[in-house]
This record gives sequence, structure tokens and C-alpha cells, in this order.
Amino acid sequence: MVVQSTRVRGDVAVSMIESAIPKHHAAALAARDGRFALAQFPRATAPSRPVQPPRAPEHIRAVRRMLDSHGRAIRDLRISITDRCNFRCTYCMEPEVRFAPRESLLTTGEIIRVARIAESLGVHKIRLTGGEPTLHPDLTAIIAGIRAATNIEIAMITNASLLTRDALRAWKAAGLDRVTISIDSLRADLFARLTRSTSSPADVLAGVEAVIAEGLTPLKLNAVLIRGFNDDEAADLAELARRYAIDMRFIEYMPLDSGHAWDASKWVSAAETRAVIEERFPLVACHDDDPSSTARSFAFADGRPGRVGFIAPISSPFCGACSRLRLTADGKIRPCLFSTTEWDLRSLLRSATTDEHIGDFLIDATWTKQPGHGIASPQFRQPERPMSAIGG
Ligand code: 5AD
Ligand code: SF4
Repeated sequence: MVVQSTRVRGDVAVSMIESAIPKHHAAALAARDGRFALAQFPRATAPSRPVQPPRAPEHIRAVRRMLDSHGRAIRDLRISITDRCNFRCTYCMEPEVRFAPRESLLTTGEIIRVARIAESLGVHKIRLTGGEPTLHPDLTAIIAGIRAATNIEIAMITNASLLTRDALRAWKAAGLDRVTISIDSLRADLFARLTRSTSSPADVLAGVEAVIAEGLTPLKLNAVLIRGFNDDEAADLAELARRYAIDMRFIEYMPLDSGHAWDASKWVSAAETRAVIEERFPLVACHDDDPSSTARSFAFADGRPGRVGFIAPISSPFCGACSRLRLTADGKIRPCLFSTTEWDLRSLLRSATTDEHIGDFLIDATWTKQPGHGIASPQFRQPERPMSAIGG
């Protein structure tokens, strides 16, 4: 029964996304034909040489804020501190991934310098991402350095496989404010297939409990549902929000996987996920999300603590309110997750240059931010770099 109703909703979702994506797209065609794993968006070619952004208009540079040409201001900087990961999540990283050479990764000092300059240009929040940021040998020093140099809120996203109470305590003492944890399945066999790691859901839940015990809260959990894989776990994952009185957020699967196996038939919409959860846990909208927040949050109708959030970049793009800019582990500025151009900040950082000049670069790079991801456009090209290199 449940399987059947999910299938019906699945068909609705596929037809929804088919209408959003032009018919000639391979992805849409594959969805209609019911083929899996075949569809690929054309790959955008990576920039072949270091690139500098064009100059933003002088009156924009003069404001000393990161403003883009579509009226948005950057307040949130996502810094990928490493491209390395001990997981190989199927929606993110291929098993045979080639990591960037160490010398191409930004140093601790370079990361802290960018954070300090970004704060002077209006950034309020930094999220440390990866790869897996906890693999960085200098993570505590990075946090402490950013904390000493700025008043920015520091959050970190992790797969929680390496969290210990001692490590969390050290990061908190260094200045870490909050943690977000990814968890996509509560079933050990599926978790192993999805993450291609030796970790288990029990390890992640131990990490969740450690984060709560150390007070690195409010804690958010993220899950990506993939049809035919873990999409039947939506309500079980939502139950974690109730169990731990935290936020459980479902992110729509995006074409950012390094295997380029994304196709519309594997995508599960936020609306469908919500409907499945509501069969077990009726929800009520909170209406209190920050306008630039990517998530729409819901409370449990029975009044139990905990919230469920939906991040719907595909079915309800939030690009218009985007306040984010990304710095990759190898020092490139990506104005958007889906940018096909990236600007080479590392070369500038490694030349003898002033903070003001780096600020100009950040302002210029921001001015080039594209209006949105354009997944529904015929011109859409999946970025060459997967999420692990970009930093979620
Ligand atoms: N689609 C949606 N979310 C993704 N993430 C990684 N790759 C994808 C993808 N292709 C998420 C992870 C993590 C965050 C950094 O990005 O689940 O929560
Ligand atoms: Fe690692 Fe995160 Fe990518 Fe999974 S999604 S492979 S945990 S970087």
C-alpha cells in the first residue's frame, strides 16, 4: 500500500520536474523512460587557467560590502578546508576520486586571513565544510584563528564519523559555535552502501549525542533522499528530530555528484518527502525562517519538540535570497554552488598583496554571482566539480 502511494507521488514528482526541465534534456528523457543511472547533464568544462574576476563598478567597490549585480549581499561564507573525505557518498564523491595536491590547498593562515577580510566586508557567518573538515589536522587552529580574528559565527558540517567528546570540547573552546551533521540512512547496510565507508548509523548517532552533550547547538541534521534507495526512511529520519529535540532537514538531491549519475527519476521533492512524513507525524509550518535561510521549517503537530526542515533547491529555488559565497579547499571563489567559473584567490593570497586588494577581489568576484542555478534551463551545465570540492 505504502509502496504504491509512494510510487504515485513519485510519478507526480517526475512529471513536475520534467515540466521544469526542457524535454530534450537527457535527464528528463531518462526519467520518462524509467531508465536509471544513464542520464547525465552535459559537464561544464573547468577553467583551464587561473582567472581573475572583472572589476566591479567603482561605486560598488567603494561600499566595501560584497554585493552582487542582482541586489543580493553576501553574509555567509562557506569555506571548504579540505577536499579529503573518509566517506564516498554516492551522491557526492566517486571511490576513485583524485584529491588536490596538498600544496594547492589553502593554509591555515590563508583561511584565517580570508575570514578576517570577509568579516570587514559584511560576512556574519562562516561554515567550515569539506570534504570532511574533521580530517583537517589543523582544524582546532583554524577555528581558534578565525575566532581570534573575527566575531563571525562559526559553524561546521561533518559526517560525524570522527566526533569525540574531547575533540568537540576542544573545538568549542577554540570558538566553534554550531555543528550540522549529515545522516542519510538509519539502516546499517544501506548506510554502508550509500557512504561506502566503514562507519555506521550508530557511529553518527553517537556523534549526535556527543554534540548535544557538549552544547554545540542548535544541532541540525541533513539528509539527502534518493528514490529507490533511502526514500522510504523519511519518517524514520524525521523521528530523530523528536528523539533529540533538534532540526532534521531534508535536502533535495542536486546534480552535483562527481559520478554525474544524477537524474530526475532519482530526485524526491520536498513536497513528497513532507507528505510521507506526515503519514506518521503531522506537521505545522513554523513561518519563522530567516528570509535568506534555505530551509522551510515545520514543527510536530502534537507539540513534541524538534523540527523538520525542507531544503528544496530544485522544486522551490531560493536563489533570489541567497547570501552565500563559497571558498574551495584549493582557494577558488565560487559565487554559486552551480558556478561554472571560479576565481583564483589562492594566487593572489600567495603574492605579496594587501588586505585591501584581497577585499577588492572578493567584491569583484561577488559582483559576478549568477542569478540562480538555472537547472531548468536548456543551457544548464552540471559543474565539473562535485560538492566535496566545492564545500556544501
Ligand atoms: N545533492 C544534495 N545535497 C548534497 N550534499 C552533498 N552532495 C549533495 C547533492 N548532490 C549535502 C550533504 C551535506 C551537505 C554538505 O551537502 O548531504 O549535508
Ligand atoms: Fe564526504 Fe560529505 Fe561528500 Fe559524503 S557528502 S563523501 S561525507 S564530503
